[in-house]
Amino acid sequence: TWTMLNVVEEQVEKIREQVGEGRAICALSGGVDSAVAAALVQRAIGDRLTCVYVDHGMMRLGETEQVRRDFEEVFDSLDVVDAEEQFLTALAGVTEPETKRKIIGHEFIRTFEAAEVRVFGDAQQGETVFLVQGTLYPDVVESGGGAGTSTIKSHHNVGGLPDDLNFELVEPLRALFKDEVRAVGEQLGLPERMVWRQPFPGPGLGIRIIGEVTKERLDMLRQADAIAREELTKSGLDREIWQMPVVLLADVRSVGVQGDGRTYGHPVVLRPVTSEDAMTADWARLPYEVMEKISTRITNEVAEINRVTIDITSKPPGTIEWE
Ligand code: XMP
Repeated sequence: TWTMLNVVEEQVEKIREQVGEGRAICALSGGVDSAVAAALVQRAIGDRLTCVYVDHGMMRLGETEQVRRDFEEVFDSLDVVDAEEQFLTALAGVTEPETKRKIIGHEFIRTFEAAEVRVFGDAQQGETVFLVQGTLYPDVVESGGGAGTSTIKSHHNVGGLPDDLNFELVEPLRALFKDEVRAVGEQLGLPERMVWRQPFPGPGLGIRIIGEVTKERLDMLRQADAIAREELTKSGLDREIWQMPVVLLADVRSVGVQGDGRTYGHPVVLRPVTSEDAMTADWARLPYEVMEKISTRITNEVAEINRVTIDITSKPPGTIEWE
């Protein structure tokens, strides 16, 4: 639309003014906000933008490969960091949700800083490096007008770089709502998959395993999640459903029967919700046929999972994610 074309032109102009001849770096999460912000900056300053994508090993089935292919098509300079082992080692033995989140956030900043050192290690004294963030208007409002809540918050202590290197935030989406960001993404010609991606938390499947996060459990959850997403897409409900986390109750077992044997496996919880902005949400009345298909397939196809349950709690009092 005309309006979005104006937004693109206006923002590209503003970014050029702010960054001048400088260089910028952006952490891509795989989500639409950081992708659109980075695409705007790339349009403004070209290959003086470097994008970094950290694979923390807790993405969904095939997601990192997909994100990498999509991003390689869009971004000229992309640094993909494989940090699975680092994250899983840091999470070993941890079950408390906030501790998990803190560890994941901490490892993320460490990894991103290492990438910055690689990319900007030769930065001149006194040079300002620009940090691109996909902060949206609701983030600005929620955090009282300060820096956004998305991706990285604490960037005042960037280790490893010269002390007199300054960081300055570039936040081209600060005035926009989610649907406007999607429209800008379409205007910029980003792939539809990227533009219409449902929300997915930064800590990934790590906060959808209730209990310790291990590679084995992640693989189990990845399989169940892939089936649930495939069936939801087949049903044509992707845009109606805000998101549908699949949660693995990894420390719970229940008895079942399959073929002519007793099973003693784990339950998963489907958490389909409808929402406008994730601040509140309602549990989605999924059609019975869709639930049936998902349940049958998960219990047949994923060894170790022998029960599928559904969460019928609204937000509030429940949150969308379980951790
Ligand atoms: P809750 O669970 O608080 O989630 O109802 C609200 C929305 O935020 C997403 N979410 C996150 N997104 N980093 C993110 O980028 C996070 O740490 C995070 N935690 C929750 C969640 O998927 C839902 O869309």
